[in-house]
Amino acid sequence: MEHTWTMGSITTSRTIYGCMRLGGTWDALPPDDTAYERAFAALDSALAAGITVFDHADIYCHGKSETLFGEWLRARPGIRDRITIQTKCGIILPGGTPTTIYDFSRDHIIASIEGSLERLGVDVIDVLLLHRPDPLCDPPEVARAWSEISSRGLAVHLGVSNHSASQIDILRQATGSDIVANQVEISLAHPDLLIAGTAWNQRHPSHPLRDGGVIEDALSQGTQLQAWSPLAGGKYLAASPHINPECDETARDEKVAKLLTQLADRYDVSVEAIMLAWVMRHPSHIMPVIGTMDPKRIGKCVEAERVSLSREDWYLLTAAARGHAMP
Ligand SMILES: NC(=O)c1ccc[n+]([C@@H]2O[C@H](COP(=O)([O-])OP(=O)(O)OC[C@H]3O[C@@H](n4cnc5c(N)ncnc54)[C@H](OP(=O)(O)O)[C@@H]3O)[C@@H](O)[C@H]2O)c1
Repeated sequence: MEHTWTMGSITTSRTIYGCMRLGGTWDALPPDDTAYERAFAALDSALAAGITVFDHADIYCHGKSETLFGEWLRARPGIRDRITIQTKCGIILPGGTPTTIYDFSRDHIIASIEGSLERLGVDVIDVLLLHRPDPLCDPPEVARAWSEISSRGLAVHLGVSNHSASQIDILRQATGSDIVANQVEISLAHPDLLIAGTAWNQRHPSHPLRDGGVIEDALSQGTQLQAWSPLAGGKYLAASPHINPECDETARDEKVAKLLTQLADRYDVSVEAIMLAWVMRHPSHIMPVIGTMDPKRIGKCVEAERVSLSREDWYLLTAAARGHAMP
């Protein structure tokens, strides 16, 4: 049966457009004309490619990504009702504070969502994610914040990012709410979550136990997994890939890049699509959160939605990315 992608009550596109780079620069300078043009072109292209979910965070480009997105929405009347807006809270970048701080306090969560709503120029956030686990997180306090957000109608659904299954469970119980999504790093350059279930009892140093039950939580509880940086920031893909010749992993990375090109030829899609198809092949129906701002590449990325990688090709890529075969 055809799978439908949903987050809580919301039906979405398979691919998510990540707005982290939208604001151009990570500083307090206002965006210039070039930043506006690049951002609008990327967002128009994502929408034209059928993407309806847009991923933000209060901190992206120090708020400029949300601000530019808000300007785009104002310039494109009628779009708000056709799209899902997701944003994150809980990280404070150095500036007013001496170091990066994670803050899941009630006051910070409420102030953060109010700021996002204002920058985006919308009345409601569809999905609010807690960005990274705060070691000082007090679940009842998060529950109070979420209860206030819900009753004021500031957000529809609660999700998390970079959380383990047990952390999700604690928040689920404390808030009495579904945790509709967990956004985590998954790519060929960062495959650990997908293979940890096989490699958990292996001694090889490249098999750190990192999964925290995340895959099992997605499969058993239906938490929608979202993969951030699924193109590994362009590693393997650029004309001169970001492969470090000083590093002894060069041979392995070159092998991955070559295999991606071969498979792209065979499946008659882009290399970007093959990279994403490797993430999307997993039965938990992972949604990739793509971050390219190149309109042509955005189109190439959504080609992944029509690729079903064979089991053999998935394992070939996995072994190449690990640098050795499965145990
Ligand atoms: N939850 C979290 O903690 C977290 C952390 C990081 C990111 N995220 C989310 O994930 C989204 C995606 O992250 P990301 O931007 O790192 O993901 P990505 O899609 O893996 O990487 C995008 C980057 O790769 C470059 N790239 C892609 N294909 C390329 C090619 N063929 N040749 C050269 N460069 C290429 C892009 O450059 P061009 O723009 O020039 O194409 C862009 O700089 C973010 O926008 C954000 O929404 C979440």
